Amino acid sequence: MSQSLATVAYLGAAILFILSLGGLSNPETSRRGNLFGMVGMALAVLATVFGPRVSTGGIAWIVAALVIGGGVGLFAARIVKMTQMPELVALMHSLVGLAACLVGFASYVDTSVQFQGAEKVIHEVEIYVGILIGAVTFSGSLIAFGKLNGKIGGKPLLLPARHWLNLVALLVVIWFGREFIRAETVADGMLPLTVMTVVALLFGIHMVMAIGGADMPVVVSMLNSYSGWAAAATGFMLSNDLLIVTGALVGSSGAILSYIMCNAMNRNFISVIAGGFGSGGGAPAKKGENGEQAEPQGEVAPVTAADTAEMLREAKSVIIVPGYGMAVAQAQHTVNEIVKTLRDRGVDVRFAIHPVAGRMPGHMNVLLAEAKVPYDIVMEMDEINEDFPEADVAMVIGANDIVNPAAQDDPSSPIAGMPVLEVWKAKHSIVMKRSMASGYAGVDNPLFYKENNRMLFGDAKKMLDEVLSALKG
Ligand code: TAP
Repeated sequence: MSQSLATVAYLGAAILFILSLGGLSNPETSRRGNLFGMVGMALAVLATVFGPRVSTGGIAWIVAALVIGGGVGLFAARIVKMTQMPELVALMHSLVGLAACLVGFASYVDTSVQFQGAEKVIHEVEIYVGILIGAVTFSGSLIAFGKLNGKIGGKPLLLPARHWLNLVALLVVIWFGREFIRAETVADGMLPLTVMTVVALLFGIHMVMAIGGADMPVVVSMLNSYSGWAAAATGFMLSNDLLIVTGALVGSSGAILSYIMCNAMNRNFISVIAGGFGSGGGAPAKKGENGEQAEPQGEVAPVTAADTAEMLREAKSVIIVPGYGMAVAQAQHTVNEIVKTLRDRGVDVRFAIHPVAGRMPGHMNVLLAEAKVPYDIVMEMDEINEDFPEADVAMVIGANDIVNPAAQDDPSSPIAGMPVLEVWKAKHSIVMKRSMASGYAGVDNPLFYKENNRMLFGDAKKMLDEVLSALKG
């Protein structure tokens, strides 16, 4: 493939990636967005493998690596459960970081291209920064993976004088950066480069170890952003424009997602970026830290599935709030059946989706789309929160923290200030869960004890099946 054809293919791929991101921002266009991304990536890989910079002898190696890597990816994607997706994503980010480090070292020892003067300095800065971001991303993502799958405890590790330690690490990195740029030979530059890599790896571990379990989703999204910047740095090292563009797209979209999640979980974005967070501000989850649950603080009024069906049948307007428990119970298909039955009877049914419902961004939207719930009745929090007072029934399915009024009423609550769905303002609310156990944040929920609230205890799928048969019967 000629250079100009490869450039055109790269341009096409970059446009497809931008269209892909645009498509993924809306459930109705997300399938098309995914398709754009897949076609763009196929085009990018083909243009690189058959492009002018790969020798014919190298193609066999690349194809073998593609088959092995693709096979592992396919296997992982098939066996991973939806709720394990964040940890798989964290593991993938670590590979991007590792790749940036390896490419950085390979670029440095590769003497086939000789840079002189300012060009040499620029190339070395690219290598240094690329390996720095790559190493932080690699070790930080591995720790995030360990924390998410429970191999490492969720409790934040707060070393004494940890901010000073980070500052010393920064100064060491700057000092050895100067030594690296001043080195005359590759052998001389190897020591500062290696020292910086070790410091960056330790910094990545320290940064994520200091973060409490409740903040991990933000960290994963932030590491996603870092992995994008690591890829962009690799693009600079290899003079590959597409890698620069793609890395910048991932880096900036990851940063925007982190910002949105910070707002939704009431975390401070600046302290997230600085890395030293997890214990200040909104205190981290009790449950995540010590495994303890908040004690119930009042009396609740239970309700049966038959009575729930009766309340739904008599309602004119129903708002359903799905949460993590719906995902665990895989109740989305039954939910859709109930929605269809109610809508056939003329009941106005809508869904209220909190931005951090479940365990990953868009978790509920994906499940509802899988169950073929019509998109036009699935509302974002800001679109529907004001409508709760007009709703006859608000039905909460396996959600807890995202409907906790303490976030608004109790300034001492660990989730104080987190935006929540105001289900208690509906004429009646029904909360469906198995017990009085708390949610992810480990705090009690005063919603359960409100006069207009009823508790439907049991597994969400089982209880919804009973509600559905009562509705149909
Ligand atoms: P949670 O507050 O975690 O509450 C889920 C509730 O579902 C639990 O109280 C649990 O109570 C119930 N449940 C579990 N399995 C169930 C089953 N089989 N049937 C019925 N109920 C079941 O979930 P949420 O309201 O969706 O809030 C999300 C929380 O996760 C927030 O604190 C958020 O900050 C955090 N978080 C979000 C993300 C993203 S990006 N979405 C990522 C990580 C963490 P029982 O045990 O009594 O059944």
